[in-house]
Amino acid sequence: MKLCLCADHGGFELKEEIKKYLTEKSIDFEDYGTYTPDSIDYPVVAEKAAAHITNGECDLGIFCCGTGIGISMAANKVKGIRAACCSDYFSAKFTRLHNDANVLCLGGRVVGVGLALELVDVFINTEFEGGRHQRRVDLITAIENK
Ligand code: RB5
Repeated sequence: MKLCLCADHGGFELKEEIKKYLTEKSIDFEDYGTYTPDSIDYPVVAEKAAAHITNGECDLGIFCCGTGIGISMAANKVKGIRAACCSDYFSAKFTRLHNDANVLCLGGRVVGVGLALELVDVFINTEFEGGRHQRRVDLITAIENK
């Protein structure tokens, strides 16, 4: 399991906390920026990082911005990305179980570090259920391919 991390300035501090957590847990990750708290456009960061998931280098992504929303909107424009902006445990779990989400988006100005780490934990440790949910994910992909 290798994770792909990225953030804009609004999510930079949260990304740094997530990196500390993953390092403590010996979970493999790559940080695709931003590397300073300076202002940066989240669509640029999201597109660059997402490519490392769609090319198979990374399994799942954790993308952070101020709300988690902008970076999720941008990530979802990349073919093959299913990004979910979550701020509660149930959603972070079920977006893996039912949607096979491959990117968790978090708002650095929305969730505290403690909750964010719980969300990361459940997201990366929950497997897609498949079955009837596979058909629905395939229907999402079909929209993408139109
Ligand atoms: C940046 O100020 C902020 O707009 C961005 O981090 C994010 O919240 C957008 O959705």
